[in-house]
Amino acid sequence: MELIREYAGWFYLVGAILFILTLRGLSSPKTAIRGNTYGMVAMAIAVITTFFVVDHVVVWMILAPMALGAVVGIGRARTVPMTQMPETVALMHSLVGLSAVLIAVAAILHNNHLVDIFSQHADALQAAGVEEPHMSKVHFFELFVGCFVGAITFTASLFAYGKLAAKKWAKTISGSWVKPLQAILFAAMIACGIYFFAANNMTAFWLMTAFALAFGWVWIAPVGGGDMPVVVSLLNSFSGWAAAGIGFTLENNMLIVAGSLVGSSGAILSYIMCKAMNRSILNVLFGGSMSAGAAAAKSGEHVERNHRSGSADDAGFLMSNADSVVIVPGYGMAQGRAQNAVKELATILKEQGVTVRFAIHPVAGRMPGHMNVLLAEADVPYDDILEMDEINSDFPATDVVLVIGANDVVNPAAKDDPSSPIYGMPILEAYKARTIMVIKRSMATGYAGLDNDLFYNEKTMMIFGDAKKVVEDMTKSVNGTGH
Ligand code: TAP
Repeated sequence: MELIREYAGWFYLVGAILFILTLRGLSSPKTAIRGNTYGMVAMAIAVITTFFVVDHVVVWMILAPMALGAVVGIGRARTVPMTQMPETVALMHSLVGLSAVLIAVAAILHNNHLVDIFSQHADALQAAGVEEPHMSKVHFFELFVGCFVGAITFTASLFAYGKLAAKKWAKTISGSWVKPLQAILFAAMIACGIYFFAANNMTAFWLMTAFALAFGWVWIAPVGGGDMPVVVSLLNSFSGWAAAGIGFTLENNMLIVAGSLVGSSGAILSYIMCKAMNRSILNVLFGGSMSAGAAAAKSGEHVERNHRSGSADDAGFLMSNADSVVIVPGYGMAQGRAQNAVKELATILKEQGVTVRFAIHPVAGRMPGHMNVLLAEADVPYDDILEMDEINSDFPATDVVLVIGANDVVNPAAKDDPSSPIYGMPILEAYKARTIMVIKRSMATGYAGLDNDLFYNEKTMMIFGDAKKVVEDMTKSVNGTGH
């Protein structure tokens, strides 16, 4: 036991290295399971080591909530469907934020308590050589920042959870009063925080926390539901920074390292998502949703355009006679739960000698890695799944592109229409293929609310219907019309 206490720093170092290896492992589906294992080992090292470095009196206080957390966590992990993952993640971030607030409150109350005791028995304690308890300004700063970042993370993540889970209490707010209210709450929070920092005034501390809680809610409530994944990723980053701040308070290096890793990786992910959507993070957080631009684009005159449609049978025949097929999955594949049917179609085509690959856009679907997760669930080989940058140059030499429930991520307007709200967003260049087939239920727009020239392209055949049903019909057709 003494040994662990003495070498706690080394154990934390091993834990920190394993956390870094975790992130490295999670960067590719092939190594993701190993990455997860590193993460679990690192967390076990962090928790067990912490047991030995804290006061023994409080061990039961850690064990009891840990046991409760494990029961709730295991129960939730076993039952949560993949589609509810984003809201579950948001809910977990809210708990990190709440922990940061509670730890900051506990540290301040503990310090005040020590100061009170000292002042009551000052003479005796001074005579015994006990120094007056004193919290440094640096410590106050950590608490001030850790607490308000934690409070904002708590209510903002709670709102994000409510919004994603379609709870009635998580209503999007709008109006000209929203931005001034946000500014007032933010300014009040900072002013109270500075006063607390300068004068150790507890009323200012409580007010700062209350304003931060209110700000978190009012800040995220105007953001549209579709932008919530970016918000969740940003809050993930915030929860990491709050944890790192609290790591300084608790003088726990492990928490500082783990918090910083979460903070920076969440920030990088938010940046990647915004870049792939051609939006800035400020635009997502303060600029309203994409639909505003889309509404403006739609307000123009509506022109009826011709498109060509075909049957699953026609499509099956064409694919089984192709040399190469690239499948572009999108939100509609997730919505129609078609991934297993798609895998079966790909397998049968491959058995017939067709080269089949999958092209993944970074923001296809509604959450980061949405398509990768679904294809992995359906056991599609990782080597067949290519990222946008890897596959884009292959489209001109591709016989058939099969777009399954994707829309915005293959919209050529992003490349050639400067007036389009998505102009500049990188896309999968499906329009360059020799033949294009699109499965969707209607000519309706996708997430961005924009018409898509690809559907009217002379090389395009629309196959209308639910993704799963159409793909199953295509598979039957391929089976009957092989080479
Ligand atoms: P979308 O542009 O949203 O298009 C999906 C298409 O799927 C729709 O046009 C819809 O047309 C079709 N569809 C829906 N259910 C279907 C079903 N059961 N069977 C067949 N088709 C179905 O999807 P995308 O191309 O994947 O693009 C993603 C969009 O979401 C981007 O604009 C992106 O910026 C945004 N976004 C992504 C993320 C992340 S992190 N992935 C986060 C926030 C926002 P019908 O209704 O006609 O069937």
